[in-house]
Amino acid sequence: MRVAVIGAGVIGLACAHELVLSGHAVTVFDAHPAQGATHAAAGMLSPAGEAWYGEDELLRLGLASAALWPDIATGLTARSGIDVDYRNTGTLLVGKDRDDLAVVQRTIDLLTAHGIEAEQLGREELLAHEPTLNSRIAGGAILHHDHNVNPRKAAESLMAALGERLIRVNARPDVVNGVCRGVITDDGKVHRSDVVIAATGHRLDDMIPGPQRVVRPVRGETIRARTDDPPRRTIRASVQGRPVYVVPRAGGEVVIGATSEEHAGDPMPTVGGVLRLLDDARTLLPTLDTAEILDITCRFRPGTPDNGPVIGPSLTPGLLVAGGHYRGGVLLAPITALAIRAYVEHGDVPEAARPFQPNRFGTFNADIRSNL
Ligand code: GLY
Repeated sequence: MRVAVIGAGVIGLACAHELVLSGHAVTVFDAHPAQGATHAAAGMLSPAGEAWYGEDELLRLGLASAALWPDIATGLTARSGIDVDYRNTGTLLVGKDRDDLAVVQRTIDLLTAHGIEAEQLGREELLAHEPTLNSRIAGGAILHHDHNVNPRKAAESLMAALGERLIRVNARPDVVNGVCRGVITDDGKVHRSDVVIAATGHRLDDMIPGPQRVVRPVRGETIRARTDDPPRRTIRASVQGRPVYVVPRAGGEVVIGATSEEHAGDPMPTVGGVLRLLDDARTLLPTLDTAEILDITCRFRPGTPDNGPVIGPSLTPGLLVAGGHYRGGVLLAPITALAIRAYVEHGDVPEAARPFQPNRFGTFNADIRSNL
């Protein structure tokens, strides 16, 4: 099949790569590849840590995708020679004070109800696991199966594997009489294809004919810093009711995140957001006081009404969508790629991905529906 992918964030790149491996002729279009949410992402592969009440299907999707990551990471590193810094060191959940511990306890209760291991730890046990933690934390838990990867390296590796299949120009679907025939690039060229995959993150709605708004921008900031004394594993914490995480990388780098605000306009970091993150991260890990700040990144997460992604056929024949991955783009990239390949090939869509078809939103592509 000739496949055009619009959008080269981690989702578009992963879908394109999967389709190339499966023998399809793939072209990816993006003027600024991997510069959207992928550039801000901390790379937590943390389905358990992100689990929340009422999101059981999303948890199943995340677990299925996390299970694919070890092989994906090995394959990417082997093919591209770029180390994607996959770390299977687990995640600590930490409550700063007693009220924060109650927040952690809710996650533990939820995971236990799902049969997912969350080993509860008191203060001394947590400090034994992670000596850089503030000695006055209240307690927490360890999630042995929530890991992390470097999203910037993963994207670099995917781009290297795609080579000249990635064209640095923006494109939109070319829809004629309600059928998608390919894409039109910003320089006016038409590229015919058998199927188009729109993977444009928080701009997904712009790719679908019609007035629908399903994906909305949710602003998030991350800070990269370098320290001589990084934590050994990802730490997700509640500090006086505010969520903060610190993810270690190669070379003493840490990623601190992440604010979350419903926002439009340009995604610019704010003094308040950055101060809040730095203050809470330093409360958690006092050795960060002398860390060097490397960069501050602000991007939009693509949020949806039920926090789940949209993966599958749109109501326009020939046009598939893979977007709205909200807080889990990096985690969910492998399962999204498998599902998109199955939709392209009319194969078996992984069971965990089936509930996330775009048509679960009644308004999605409404005017196209009325044209059919
Ligand atoms: N998954 C982490 C975040 O969205 O901040």
